[in-house]
Amino acid sequence: MRNEEKRDAEVKILGIESSCDETAAAVVVDGRRILSSVVASQIDIHRKYGGVVPELASREHLRQIVPVVREAMEQAGLKFEDLDAIGVTQGPGLVGSLLVGITYGKTLAEAMGKPLIPVNHLEGHVHAVFLEALQKGEEPPLPAVCLIVSGGHTVLYEVKRARQEGRGSFAYRKLGGTRDDAAGEAYDKVAKLLGLGYPGGPILDRLASAAGDVPAPVKFGPTKTRGNAMDFSFSGLKTAVLYHLREHPEYAQGIRNREEVLRGGRRSFAEVLPLCDAATLGLVREFQNAVVRDLEDRTMAAVDACGVKTILVSGGVAANAQLRASFAAKAERRGVEVFFPELGLSTDNAAMIAAAAYAGFRAGDFADVGLNAKASLPLL
Ligand code: KG4
Ligand code: ZN
Repeated sequence: MRNEEKRDAEVKILGIESSCDETAAAVVVDGRRILSSVVASQIDIHRKYGGVVPELASREHLRQIVPVVREAMEQAGLKFEDLDAIGVTQGPGLVGSLLVGITYGKTLAEAMGKPLIPVNHLEGHVHAVFLEALQKGEEPPLPAVCLIVSGGHTVLYEVKRARQEGRGSFAYRKLGGTRDDAAGEAYDKVAKLLGLGYPGGPILDRLASAAGDVPAPVKFGPTKTRGNAMDFSFSGLKTAVLYHLREHPEYAQGIRNREEVLRGGRRSFAEVLPLCDAATLGLVREFQNAVVRDLEDRTMAAVDACGVKTILVSGGVAANAQLRASFAAKAERRGVEVFFPELGLSTDNAAMIAAAAYAGFRAGDFADVGLNAKASLPLL
């Protein structure tokens, strides 16, 4: 069947994602119905180094790619010959990691005679929001401002419907991005300073909400970025936390106690909470307030600059409870709608890659065997 004829039938795409520390595969029908989504996280491997080690990541992707794809196919109840196409993340990301998914995808596409569709990882995060909304029978109105906020990215785009033939569904304009650390990276670094392990986001999120109204041991003012109000910078905030800890040696014992407990493999919220005194909880809450306020202020500046009525938020940090509540409240006050993916679609996954690949499938945007990884592939 030719692709144009296929448009009225169901299009089943296998998505493959290996850009960072998650090996993921998923099958999505027509870019909207998830048949399966399997994610093998490498967190346990990178944890003792406090961050992702690229060499270890590629080696682990190599180990995981075959079983992860097999499981995604089994859960979907499909055989390779039932697929219409294979979508694979081309970049941005770690080259060694990307190459594992790309090589696997190329080989499978070649062996099965199926089209291979290259996907920009950031476009995958945008599609995650639509995928979630479509599951609920909603569709975010465009144009929109999209904040992608994760361990590797903190970036704002204006998203419109693509008008050009041969393009995917959306057209993008970059409005701003981080000049140094990504927001998730700041979470991970601050958690490390506080002896709270890796990744930092989920535990800091819960500790911040457990802090209640303990007194603030420090206040972090707004971050100024000269020039573009839609650019971000998080390294100053991380350094402010570091200096605060250095100036107050009374935090040191608590940090050592938590590091000790983490070394013993205990890292649940219930185990960590009793090891955090009021000052630590207050510090975590103030850090999170500063991050959320900053993300929100710059996103709202983008909303004003573009005059849009829709906000899309995606990426690992979009899982943050305070960020979700705060964005929803602020957006409502402004008469703007905000859309998030559910938690499993916020962090890296392959369903979002398969959904983004569907747009490429319809546009006939196919790759040949020369497809290569692009560590800093821009979203255009
Ligand atoms: O999207 P993702 O899975 O991978 C990247 O592309 O980076 O995001 C992972 C990042 C990590 O930095 C992690 O600490 C952060 O997202 N994160 C969170 C939360 N859950 C994950 N940050 C804040 N609050 C959370 N609940
Ligand atoms: Zn990501």
